[in-house]
Amino acid sequence: MPKKTKEEWKIYKNVFDSATILNIFKLSSQGHFDGLESPIALGKEANVFTALKGKQRIIVKIYRVENCNFNKMYSYIAPDPRFSGLKKRRRLIIFSWVQREYRNLLKARQVIRVPTPIAVKDNVLLMEFIGREQPAPLLKDLPPKSPKKFFEKTMNNVKKLYKAGLVHADLSEFNILNFEEEPVFIDFSQATITKHPQAQEFLERDVRNVVKYFNKQGLELDEKEVYEEIIRVN
Ligand SMILES: Nc1ncnc2c1ncn2[C@@H]1O[C@H](COP(=O)(O)OP(=O)(O)O)[C@@H](O)[C@H]1O
Ligand SMILES: [Mg+2]
Repeated sequence: MPKKTKEEWKIYKNVFDSATILNIFKLSSQGHFDGLESPIALGKEANVFTALKGKQRIIVKIYRVENCNFNKMYSYIAPDPRFSGLKKRRRLIIFSWVQREYRNLLKARQVIRVPTPIAVKDNVLLMEFIGREQPAPLLKDLPPKSPKKFFEKTMNNVKKLYKAGLVHADLSEFNILNFEEEPVFIDFSQATITKHPQAQEFLERDVRNVVKYFNKQGLELDEKEVYEEIIRVN
């Protein structure tokens, strides 16, 4: 197990329960990283940190079990045949949720650029760090130089995902990184297979969010046309 400074311990203890700390240390002692580096986002349900392995940076996404809306999680997971028969127990649902994010990333990775998932342990997910010295900015914080080109790449991604049987279901400028003018989709926790009864509704919402953003950037897109183009078979 890597050496920890007193300070680091204090930070962990204040933020996470002991089971989570154990998961972080297990993953670290398996050789995935030496220690957490710095927090980059404190969300409603998860904290995202960078961690270092030597000079190599990775992302550690830690779900705070007590903050998770597990009823919502259950409603997304229950119709997913990959998790059929799952009992409605809090920790179980949350751990399955993180598993699902991991699997969604693996699947998405076959067709578009996303952070490569590395490992998962209960409520802790490790994945590739997207960025250089700093994490790549969110699209909302760095509008693209060419909105048209960026939009086309974004929709190309949505289409490829759809063809591969996946809908992101939480797509917006908040979950797309602008990495040197290339879109990188992140946050696949809600992503759903196209067989899910609400997949169409989720896809429509994704399109709506993206179209709204790019129209603010000066494009004149029609939501319905964009949607039809995605589901068009060719
Ligand atoms: N692989 C990654 N590389 C770089 N930054 C990331 C990565 N994953 C997440 N982030 C950053 O962390 C933030 C929160 O991650 P996200 O997966 O969207 O969690 P949440 O469920 O809290 O929205 C993102 O908005 C982004 O700024
Ligand atoms: Mg997010």
